[in-house]
Amino acid sequence: MLQKLIYASQAIKPVDTGSLQAILETARIRNEKDGVTGFLLYADESFLQILEGEEDVLTATYGRIAADPRHSGLRLLQRVPISKRRFGSWTMGFDLPDTKALGSLPGYQPSKRYPLVSPDLVRNGTVAELMLGRYALAA
Ligand SMILES: Cc1cc2nc3c(=O)[nH]c(=O)nc-3n(C[C@H](O)[C@H](O)[C@H](O)COP(=O)(O)O)c2cc1C
Repeated sequence: MLQKLIYASQAIKPVDTGSLQAILETARIRNEKDGVTGFLLYADESFLQILEGEEDVLTATYGRIAADPRHSGLRLLQRVPISKRRFGSWTMGFDLPDTKALGSLPGYQPSKRYPLVSPDLVRNGTVAELMLGRYALAA
């Protein structure tokens, strides 16, 4: 069954462009093989990622991501069945969002530290979904 999974995490140290590229390169090669699609946001040492794929594949992918020493404190915000993908053309899209601009999202107060693991996002997966939804393809 097709599912989507959204999680937030803290980088263990500031991630430079080269390291982000390395993460994306691995993710894209692997996701292409696995039929996983999604989007990754990075801001001030925090990540927010959505993954779409078959249930067993998502379990394996999330397991590997959770074990990755480049980040920690993963919080699973949402994992639900979907009827179709919203990020179908991205083996892993990426953006560095302007966290000040994110303040305009209803229900979201950006925190100074780790903005993408803000308690607003963690308490309410729909805020995270809204944030990532800005990048989704129009249906
Ligand atoms: C923030 C972040 C996002 C990642 N996203 C993915 C992803 O979408 N797909 C994936 O296969 N690996 C992703 N990775 C990399 C995995 O953690 C892991 O290094 C990779 O899947 C290779 O695993 P392996 O060395 O056990 O084969 C991500 C890592 C980080 C830190």
